[in-house]
Amino acid sequence: MPTVATDYIGQPISRVDGLAKVTGVAKYAGEFNVPGLAYGYAISSTIAMGRIHKIDSSEALKLEGVFHVFTHENSPTLALSDDAYRDDVAPTGSPFRPLHDDRVVYSGQPIGLVVAASLELARYAATLVRVEYQVEPHATDPLKNLGEAYVPEEGKTEYKKPKPRGRAQEAFAAAASTVAAEYIVPMEHHNPMEPYASTVVWNGDEVITVYDKTQGVDNVQRYLYKIFGCPPEQVRVISPFVGGGFGSGLRPQYEVFLAFMAARELKRPVRVTLTRQQMFSLGYRPATWQRVSLGATKEGRLEAIIHEAIGETSRYESYAENVLPWSGLLYQCANVQFDYKLVPLDLCTPIDMRAPGAATGFYALECAMDELAVKLGMDPLELRLRNYAEQDQNEGKPFSSKELRACYQQGAERFGWARRNPTPRSMREGKKLIGWGMASAAWVAFQTKAAAKAALTQEGKLTVSSATADIGTGTYTIMTQIAASTLGLPIEDVTFNLGDTALPEAEVEGGSFTAASVGSAVKNVCEVVREKVFRLAQAVPNSPLAGASLADVTFAEGKVRLKRDATKAVAITAAMRQGGVNAIEEERSIEPDEAKRKGYSFYTHAATFAEVKVDEDFGTVRVSRVVSAVAGGRILNPKTARSQVLGAVVMGIGMALEEESVVDHNLGRIVNHNFAEYHVPVEADVRDIQVIFVEERDEIINPLGAKGLGEIGIVGVAAAIANAVYHATGKRVRELPITLDKVM
Ligand code: MOS
Repeated sequence: MPTVATDYIGQPISRVDGLAKVTGVAKYAGEFNVPGLAYGYAISSTIAMGRIHKIDSSEALKLEGVFHVFTHENSPTLALSDDAYRDDVAPTGSPFRPLHDDRVVYSGQPIGLVVAASLELARYAATLVRVEYQVEPHATDPLKNLGEAYVPEEGKTEYKKPKPRGRAQEAFAAAASTVAAEYIVPMEHHNPMEPYASTVVWNGDEVITVYDKTQGVDNVQRYLYKIFGCPPEQVRVISPFVGGGFGSGLRPQYEVFLAFMAARELKRPVRVTLTRQQMFSLGYRPATWQRVSLGATKEGRLEAIIHEAIGETSRYESYAENVLPWSGLLYQCANVQFDYKLVPLDLCTPIDMRAPGAATGFYALECAMDELAVKLGMDPLELRLRNYAEQDQNEGKPFSSKELRACYQQGAERFGWARRNPTPRSMREGKKLIGWGMASAAWVAFQTKAAAKAALTQEGKLTVSSATADIGTGTYTIMTQIAASTLGLPIEDVTFNLGDTALPEAEVEGGSFTAASVGSAVKNVCEVVREKVFRLAQAVPNSPLAGASLADVTFAEGKVRLKRDATKAVAITAAMRQGGVNAIEEERSIEPDEAKRKGYSFYTHAATFAEVKVDEDFGTVRVSRVVSAVAGGRILNPKTARSQVLGAVVMGIGMALEEESVVDHNLGRIVNHNFAEYHVPVEADVRDIQVIFVEERDEIINPLGAKGLGEIGIVGVAAAIANAVYHATGKRVRELPITLDKVM
C-alpha cells in the first residue's frame, strides 16, 4: 500500500464506473428515452455494385405508425465536398455518403431509412420497401484482383511508408540459412457487445443533442456540422458509456448520420439502432496476404528481412496499415526491404481494428522467426535474443525505454519455457498433443494533444473533465486517480466526466494514446489548480507554509503540507475558505513535450507465450495457457491494465483460432454476419491467462511515464498460438484462423 493514502497512481483501484455499469444505471446511446421518440431502421443493399433503379416505399408508408421512408430520392440536399464528409481519422479518398445518390458501392450499404413508432414496426416496414437494382459486376476477392494492386501514399493518417536499408535481395541469396513463407490473415469484424446506436433529440430546440455510440464525440460533432451545415454550437454529442469499440467507432458511422438527418427533417427525436448483421457493414480488419523472407547466419544472426504484404481497401478510400515497419524495427538486421500494396475492391472501407497493422504484421514476422528457429535448430527465444535491437532499427534512434528483454525473461520464467522439448509432437497428455510457442510484440506509444478542465470547490470536491471516451479501457478510473493524486484528495471526492462535446477537446479514444494524452492534460490542469491552492494556503493567517516554495510541499490527504515536517500543513478546504474562494476553475490544453522527446522512439513491447492442446483425432485446438509479459511504461492501475491485456489476449485467441468474415465472392457479400457463424471466443475458450507488467521507467515520454495498453496485448498472440500449434503437431498452418480442417 502507498505510504500516502491519497497517492492512487499505481494502485489497483476498481472501476469508478463499475457500480453504474453493473446496476444498469450507466446509459448507452440507444437507451436515452425521450417522449415522442421515433425509431429508424436502415435498409441495407443486397447487391455489391450497381444502381438503384427504383425504390418503392408506398406499401411501407401505408402502415399506421410508419412516419417516413428516407431514400436517396427524398433525402435533404447536404454538403457537396468530400471534405465535409472527411472525419478526423478518415483515410485518403472520397468518404462514403449515406443516401447520397443511386449508386451502390458495397453489399450492406444503407440505402434507406424507415422511421416508425417502434423499432419492430420500422424493421417490418423495411421488408415492404421494394428495391429494383441495375446490377453491375463487382470484385471482392483480393487474390483475383491483384492486377489492380497499387502502392498507397502517406496521408493524414498514421500510415508511414517504411524505409528500406541495405541490399536485402543479395543478402538473402547469400545467407547460410533462409526461410520464405506466405501468411494469410482473413477479413475480421470487431463485434463489440453494444451495437451501434444513435438517439438524436430534436424538439425544435436550439441545440440538437446526439447520444451516439462513438470513440470520439468531437469527431462526430465536426462530421455532423460540416455535412448538415449547422453551427457547431447547435450540435452536442454525448457518449458517456461505450460497450466496446476496438476501433470500429473511431470514425462516425452511418447510424448517426441517418438518425441526425431524420430528426432534423421530421423535427422529432429519432433513434437508429443497428442489428448484429448490420455491424458487418461498418469496416473491418482487412484481409492481408504476406510473404516474409528471412536470411540468417548459422549462428542465427539476421542478414536479410524481406516483408511483402497486400491488403484490401474500398474503391473510394485508400485504407493503408502499418503492417511492415515492425520487421524493420524489432531486430538488428542491416538489409531490410518492404513492399506493400492495396487492392481496391467493392467493399466498404476497412477501419482500424485493435493494433491495426501490428496484429497482422507481427503474426507473419513472428511465425517466420519461429520457422527460422526450427531450421537453425535453435530455441525460438534464443533467436530473438541474438537479434535483439537496443535501438529503433528503422530510425536509428534510441528508445525512450525498452524493457522487451525483461518481458522475454520474466515471461519465459513464469511460463516454464526452459522445460520445453524443442521436438514437435514430443509433448502430450493422452490424446492431446501439447505445444508451446512464443512471439514478440510492439506497438507505438503515441501522445496527442488533449485538453482538460478542473474545478475545485471550497468543500474540497474536484470535478475534472475532457471530451475523451471510455470504451471499456478504464479512462474514467485512471483519470480520477491522476486528478486525486495530483491534488491529494480522497478519490471519493473526485469526479471525472467525459464523452461530451461541451467538455474540453480531445481526440478519439484510439491508438492506445488516451492514458498518455488525456492523462497528461489532467495532470497538468490539476497542477495549475494545485499552485493556486498553495498560494491560498500560504496566505492563511499564521500559515506554517509562509516561507515555503511549491517544491517544498506535497498535496496529500486533503492537505498542503511541508515535505520535511508533515505536521506543518493547511487543509485545502481551509485555504479556500479563508481565502474567500468558492471555486478554482482552470482549463489547459497540452501537447507532447517535443523538446524532451526529440531524438527518441516510443514503443510498448511484449512477449507472449502460449500453450495449446491439440486433439490428435479431431484437430481441435485449445489454448490452455497464455503468459503475456508487457513493458508499457508506468502502470497507472494494475487492475484495469491487466483487464486490457486479458481482453486483448482473448481477442488474439479469436484471431488465431476462430475469427473470419467470409465473403461470398459471387454475391460480394459477407455471409457469416451473425454470432452463429462468426465465432468469437466464449468463456469456454478462455483458460489460464497470466499478465506480467515488467518494470519500465520512462522519464522522457510524458509527465506520467505511461505508454498505453489497449493494443499491445493482442499483437503477438496469433503468432504465439500458431507457433504452439506447429510445436504440438509438426504442421505449419499459415492461414488464420487455425481451424480443425487445416490442422488435420
Ligand atoms: Mo483502436 S483500433 O485505435 O480503437
